[in-house]
Amino acid sequence: MMKSEEPNPHFSSSSSLISSTKWWSKETVAIVTGANKGIGFSLVKRLAEMGLTVILTARDAERGQKAVEALSAKGLLVNFFRLDVSDPSSIQSFVSWFKSNFGALDILVNNAAVSFNDIYENSVENAEIVIRTNFYGAKLLTEALLPLFRRSSSKSRILNISSRLGSLNKLRNPKIKQILEDDELSTEQIEYVVGLFLQSVKDGTWKSQGWPEVWTDYAVSKLALNAYARVLAKRCEGEGISVNCYCPGFTQTSMTRGKGTHTADEAADIGAGLVLLPSEELPTAKFYIGFGPYVKSKL
Ligand SMILES: NC(=O)c1ccc[n+]([C@@H]2O[C@H](COP(=O)([O-])OP(=O)(O)OC[C@H]3O[C@@H](n4cnc5c(N)ncnc54)[C@H](OP(=O)(O)O)[C@@H]3O)[C@@H](O)[C@H]2O)c1
Repeated sequence: MMKSEEPNPHFSSSSSLISSTKWWSKETVAIVTGANKGIGFSLVKRLAEMGLTVILTARDAERGQKAVEALSAKGLLVNFFRLDVSDPSSIQSFVSWFKSNFGALDILVNNAAVSFNDIYENSVENAEIVIRTNFYGAKLLTEALLPLFRRSSSKSRILNISSRLGSLNKLRNPKIKQILEDDELSTEQIEYVVGLFLQSVKDGTWKSQGWPEVWTDYAVSKLALNAYARVLAKRCEGEGISVNCYCPGFTQTSMTRGKGTHTADEAADIGAGLVLLPSEELPTAKFYIGFGPYVKSKL
């Protein structure tokens, strides 16, 4: 990831980040995961403001409904369904509800994630939950929704809200780095790497094995998510689906205990700008890093 960096002309200033070329309409359908609060909530709000049909999903029905009501109080009507991405049966129920109610989608934002680390602390106590939610959750949902993407001339879009903590340069194990850097990388190999990490957590050897040193379990989950995006982008080449990742930077949400350099609304404005790029300007297999000078690089 981040092998070569190039400035992104679309995001060189913090003024309007959403394209003025409006290719979308009310018929354009977007799904956002983990959207009852934080960046996910702000993304739903922004996409609804832009006039798309948006499905707000949340793992807790009550928290999800409250979020829908908060938007409705602002005059923004969105759809809701409960979705716990860490639970394959919840994914299945969501996808079958979505299929019978909407049929096709244009945009998927894999935003839901957990971290159990305090800002300056590192723990792997909940590594399994973190990997299951942040990597497998996004992967299983994406795979289940893949046949439902519209693949129209305006292109379908998948955006994973990821993190620079999951960059390959945070990995100090040359063997694992080599596997993930391989141009022929497969999903099975990513799962193999994730399995190695979970095993090293179980047998207490993770510290000596060169895994990322900051927010270790979270970083591995995002490393796997970025790698999966690269593999998927390649698989979807020529099929009308673009796959990119976006790191919103240090954002004031509950994940950071409210600390950060900017608000969730500001981060979501960039995320919305990315998924709403006109198709001729929409890249694939890119990693975007927001705040400050916006940069996109190869995944
Ligand atoms: N904040 C930052 O500085 C920062 C930096 C880089 C990347 N990110 C990424 O940005 C995204 C949004 O995070 P945030 O900062 O907005 O954090 P947040 O406020 O904690 O929001 C996380 C959201 O994910 C949901 N979630 C957790 N587990 C879930 C599950 N199993 N199924 C469905 N939803 C689940 C949470 O629901 P509950 O309310 O039910 O817990 C919540 O709605 C994440 O992917 C995160 O990794 C954040």
